Amino acid sequence: MMTLVFKQLLLLPCQNQLCLLPIPLLFRQMFHPKAELQLKSLLLLRPRLSNPLPLFLPYYMRDALPSHHLLKIKSFSTLLKSPIEKFSNDFKAGGYEWNFTIYPNGDKNKDGENYISVYLEIVETSNLPAGWEVNAIFNFFIFDHIRDKYVGLQDTTVKRFHFMKTQWGVVKFIDLETFNNPCNGYLVNDTCGFGVEVFVVKTTSKAQCFSLINKPVTYQVGWVFSNVIKTTVERYITEYSVFGDYKWRLLFFPKGYQVEGNKINNIISIFLDVDNSTLSAGSKLLVHFTIRLEDKKKNSNHFERSDTTALGSGARGFRNFMSETKFKDPENGFVVDDKCHISVEFEVLGVVK
Ligand SMILES: *[C@@H]1O[C@H](CO)[C@@H](O)[C@H](O)[C@H]1NC(C)=O
Ligand SMILES: *[C@@H]1O[C@H](CO)[C@@H](O)[C@H](O)[C@H]1NC(C)=O
Ligand SMILES: *[C@@H]1O[C@H](CO)[C@@H](O)[C@H](O)[C@H]1NC(C)=O
Repeated sequence: MMTLVFKQLLLLPCQNQLCLLPIPLLFRQMFHPKAELQLKSLLLLRPRLSNPLPLFLPYYMRDALPSHHLLKIKSFSTLLKSPIEKFSNDFKAGGYEWNFTIYPNGDKNKDGENYISVYLEIVETSNLPAGWEVNAIFNFFIFDHIRDKYVGLQDTTVKRFHFMKTQWGVVKFIDLETFNNPCNGYLVNDTCGFGVEVFVVKTTSKAQCFSLINKPVTYQVGWVFSNVIKTTVERYITEYSVFGDYKWRLLFFPKGYQVEGNKINNIISIFLDVDNSTLSAGSKLLVHFTIRLEDKKKNSNHFERSDTTALGSGARGFRNFMSETKFKDPENGFVVDDKCHISVEFEVLGVVK
């Protein structure tokens, strides 16, 4: 089972726009004067942000190993000096075989000098049917020895592997200067660790109407929303996050989800959504979910609502999650410092077609 540890995000002003930085980053800033360098290294791992709006990227530092494959490297310096250009290891995930390759000195054919390059390749494809195609979401991680965590940012885009394109990767995964600086915790005692996890996006068989998942996995994720009282923003939509084989996001309407001709005052609305491009055409997921608004004052009075419903053709949740009055009442602790914490616990019970 995959364990994801959600860490709180903080709001920092940067260049006329607000961006969210994860707390671990902030720790780096506080504990290491050379923070800029470290910041750079993590930003390097960050997916390019095209959206100028405030983003609510859940950032993962996880205790658990990346769920699929890990390479621990000892005597890294010897390796750097050796003529070995790359090394790799194969593993199985999602019913396919994969090869994880690391270029400790960068892939020079692709301008990767002074960086470490990482690649994921699908292998043993001769056993696959002609015209095979595998869609997958994958993420690379690096082990931080200081904080004892795997660090990686989630890229939720689905990549297509097929016979013309069997390999995907990141040429400039991390620069060697940042990597070699022991303060950053990546290379400690000449040892380092890299991980990769692969989620194959399933396409369910057409013959099936409903497939029940035997032991559903419960996922948990949370977001911090800032500026919720003073805002004039009508809705907050988080980035998609990958859980299991699907991509999820949360929609939060601090003034209620308003429909022309059917306005309801004094409500807040919260919905869960699944990206239906990660589903096979026309299918839906039967999901049991609980949306929780956290009490950050006494920490004991969380408010939650649950439902079991089919997701895939638009968000589902609660238009009238709570009254705006109750939400804003400082006594309840749902909004502290103009921020609120919303978490979701959910499990996929089956696929409906
Ligand atoms: C994995 O990749 C390496 C380097 O490209 C290659 O030498 C090795 O044969 C590959 N392994 C498999 C099982 O294809
Ligand atoms: C580094 O290695 C030494 C000896 O092998 C060991 O005692 C020490 O605990 C290691 N430090 C870390 C941070 O792993
Ligand atoms: C996919 O979701 C979007 C909204 O999230 C919806 O408009 C669209 O109809 C859905 N597609 C299918 C095939 O259900």
